[in-house]
Amino acid sequence: MKKTSPVSRSGRFASGPATAVAQFTESISFDRRLWRHDIAGSMAHATMLRKIGCLTQRELRAIIQGLDAIAKEIQQGKFRWQAELEDVHMNIEAALTSRVPAGAKLHTGRSRNDQVALDMRLWLREQIVGLQKEIRLLQRALVEFGERERAVVIPGYTHLQRAQPVYLAHHLLAYVEMLARDSQRLQECFARVNVCPLGSGALAGSTLPLDRELVADLLGFVDARGRPQVTQNSMDAVSDRDFAVEFCSSAALLAVHLSRLAEDLILWSSSEFNFIRIADAYTTGSSLMPQKKNPDVAELMRGKSGRVIGNLVALLTLLKGLPMTYNRDLQEDKERLFDTVDTVRATVRLCAAMLQNTMANRDACRAAASDSALLATDLADYLVQKGLPFRQAHHAVGALVALAERLGKPLNRLTLPELRSVEKKFGADASKVFDLKAALARRQLTGAPGTKEVRKQLDRWKKLTR
Ligand code: ARG
Repeated sequence: MKKTSPVSRSGRFASGPATAVAQFTESISFDRRLWRHDIAGSMAHATMLRKIGCLTQRELRAIIQGLDAIAKEIQQGKFRWQAELEDVHMNIEAALTSRVPAGAKLHTGRSRNDQVALDMRLWLREQIVGLQKEIRLLQRALVEFGERERAVVIPGYTHLQRAQPVYLAHHLLAYVEMLARDSQRLQECFARVNVCPLGSGALAGSTLPLDRELVADLLGFVDARGRPQVTQNSMDAVSDRDFAVEFCSSAALLAVHLSRLAEDLILWSSSEFNFIRIADAYTTGSSLMPQKKNPDVAELMRGKSGRVIGNLVALLTLLKGLPMTYNRDLQEDKERLFDTVDTVRATVRLCAAMLQNTMANRDACRAAASDSALLATDLADYLVQKGLPFRQAHHAVGALVALAERLGKPLNRLTLPELRSVEKKFGADASKVFDLKAALARRQLTGAPGTKEVRKQLDRWKKLTR
């Protein structure tokens, strides 16, 4: 039989778990990345135990020093992780106890159930802050791309059919807005992650007079006014992972936004659109076709949304049938959460870097945007200005589009008599409608792709993403 764990199996068990069981149940292979947070949590807990008289000052000092030494060893890669000690919590506690006798008092009033909930909240808090910073950098990259190519106009699409002209910057700023809401959602999620579960014990708190607020305060679980935030129900605190679900849900939506952006970039970099050129460093070749330059980074941005969505579904499924309170199933939360964080953070970073190395093919954009059919709606608006009801104007212009098609020429080449053959309200000024520059200047509503408005939005976002 294998060596038994000195921490959890002492007393009750005659032997350690079978090797296959140990392998099946271990989490050290993936939860060791929580070590920093586990140690921070233990230090705060020990400090509190000292304050309520469960540790002497000397014992506290020994524990803190012991934990510091362990942290240093882990940092330097010298710490010996032991799979038979199951997880990060027991590895660190066992190492401490083998060096410092007072280590045996560290777990006073604590369970791995509130400990693991604490570690995950501490870890996720940090990751949310890091992700938000990266989102801001991506927003800046989008704004800078729009700024570099501020004069570039492209067709805007619905149903992937050419619709109306827009500035490339306007299109890019649409994603800046989506990302702003993603970041807001993460901020709201942060507030619910930022609540301290320690003191909930295994499920029913403790008979010892723990000072939960002190621990919360030491670990920065405080609201905007500095008041400590602690969970209000011990059973809830050890058994729910809604904070992780909430994060994964916001992350899934972020991944979907990134996936849509990726799809636009992929389309635009195709020969069919040819609106942009992605720098060689962010594309790959084909092992067979020498001419190929593939947008693999963008494709993986799109593809990786699948696993992020999958992780969310896995977490929800994991939770849905669990009886109260802690069940070992919950150990399966970590890889899904870790993978989500790693995937979205890398995707956001790579996307920003790729955009910094992407430029517009101005000539191709100009050619596409000069399709006069894009201004058919403007022509209808012209008739509205002349007093025609919009439905009639829409009908008349539709007829003109058909006429132009029949005559084999673009809409803006119809002569005044041809225009007037369909609708008498057309005057000599009708041809001015097709001046693209003037058409963009006309779009003055808030949120519209007009020249002034896009300028204003670019300036606003430049300030906000500085
Ligand atoms: N490794 C466990 C997890 O990730 C820690 C909590 C274990 N608690 C227990 N009662 N076995 O959930």
